[in-house]
Amino acid sequence: MKAPTLPATNHQPRAYQGPSADEVYRLRKEYLNPALFHLYKKPLMIVEGKGQYVWDEQGKRYLDGYAGIATISVGHCHPHVLEAVHRQNETLQHSTTIYLHPNIAEFGRALAAKMPGDLKVCYFVNSGSEANDVALLMARAYTGNFDLIALRNCYHGGNLSAMGLSAHSTWKFNVPHSFGVHHTILADPYRGPWGRNDPDAGRKYAADIKSVIDYTTSGQIAGFIAESIQGVGGTVVFPDGYLKHAYEYARAAGGVCIADEVQTGFGRTGRHFWGFQLQGVIPDIVTMAKGIGNGCPLAAVVTTPQIASVLAKRIHFSTFGGNPVVCAQGKAVLEVIEREKLQENALKVGSHILAGLAKLQQKHELIGDVRGSGLMIGVELVKDRNTKEPAKAECAEILELTREMGLLLGKGSLQGQTLRIKPPLCLTMADADFLLEVLDAAFTKQEAQRPATPPQAAVRV
Ligand SMILES: Cc1ncc(COP(=O)(O)O)c(C=O)c1O
Repeated sequence: MKAPTLPATNHQPRAYQGPSADEVYRLRKEYLNPALFHLYKKPLMIVEGKGQYVWDEQGKRYLDGYAGIATISVGHCHPHVLEAVHRQNETLQHSTTIYLHPNIAEFGRALAAKMPGDLKVCYFVNSGSEANDVALLMARAYTGNFDLIALRNCYHGGNLSAMGLSAHSTWKFNVPHSFGVHHTILADPYRGPWGRNDPDAGRKYAADIKSVIDYTTSGQIAGFIAESIQGVGGTVVFPDGYLKHAYEYARAAGGVCIADEVQTGFGRTGRHFWGFQLQGVIPDIVTMAKGIGNGCPLAAVVTTPQIASVLAKRIHFSTFGGNPVVCAQGKAVLEVIEREKLQENALKVGSHILAGLAKLQQKHELIGDVRGSGLMIGVELVKDRNTKEPAKAECAEILELTREMGLLLGKGSLQGQTLRIKPPLCLTMADADFLLEVLDAAFTKQEAQRPATPPQAAVRV
């Protein structure tokens, strides 16, 4: 099989003159957090990016199918974003919100204009975890209740409150963090009891929320939080109607509804600007990060004036939140998404990839499920389609093979058995064809290297 060829680019990367990848890895092991992980057997060092492509220190180019974990939304080093940031960096890098600055005010207005309903009050912070922490505070302060409902298999961040919400043992330390958080069953039509052929599946999964409220809380809750499509959990797409019913149960128990749009926001899902719109609901609080800043430390919480008024009873402050440089970057990102119709592009190119993956699923037994929306795509690998035993080692092998062929992807799910495809939203159809060709070649090679494993009895659901 001929090796797939990356589509051409005009960009000439600079000659890299820094330390070797081996030296950087050595420094990292000696001086940095020892829990840092890397995806490949031999860690990859990326030193330059342009649009949807990145380069390693040897000058090898890759299609960035993971976007620094769903973060590069408009493409690496976009000229409009660079110009806005350079201009602001040369003028004033920091002042904080004790003084007025036009960038934070104008960015707040631009962001509010993208929100439905009465969601128009913005809080700027520095990370998705921090945004979710603020959202929890809001929910509790506003309702006067304490308990929160989250979903199993969710990921909401790594600080203590977001760790408490998250429901993957992988990310949870054995320290007190989950007090008051209750995890409802996962609305997963691939692995759960109600599948895609059940039109009532959304309501059936949501019914567990009522049960959790009735049996494990006082009957009154502070809120319900969900990613609109689970990201780290392996691109789990809830059945239609799930969030509508979930919100009804949460609100009936006095709670507010929080949508974590850290991965699904800013047009990534193609059909809508926000992921929750796929389910026809309007949350009370929305948290966002990653794609909002195209790579800078920018995150936000947007809520209603009514909820925000409760947080005004005390001082709520973040030194860097809404910094002039990151707000210039965030505003420029919004402008590019609109100007270049990137949401529409995500739908067109993402649908093409999903259709191509469905064909690959017919050809390669390892592909158990293909799902997603726009450029938020998951390909779940199983050792056996009947038992659905997660194909963890095989998924890691596919990642290695795709890297060799110039394609970067991610992985997720509890066992790391799901390939995650979340490229910048500027991906072209030619890039999409390359991605599909590489995956086809990688699965073919993997099958040749490792004959299919006989079906196993155990299924981990
Ligand atoms: C859905 C979701 N929420 C929150 C977070 C936490 O964001 P951060 O890493 O910026 O704290 C993440 C990070 O991956 C995420 O995927």
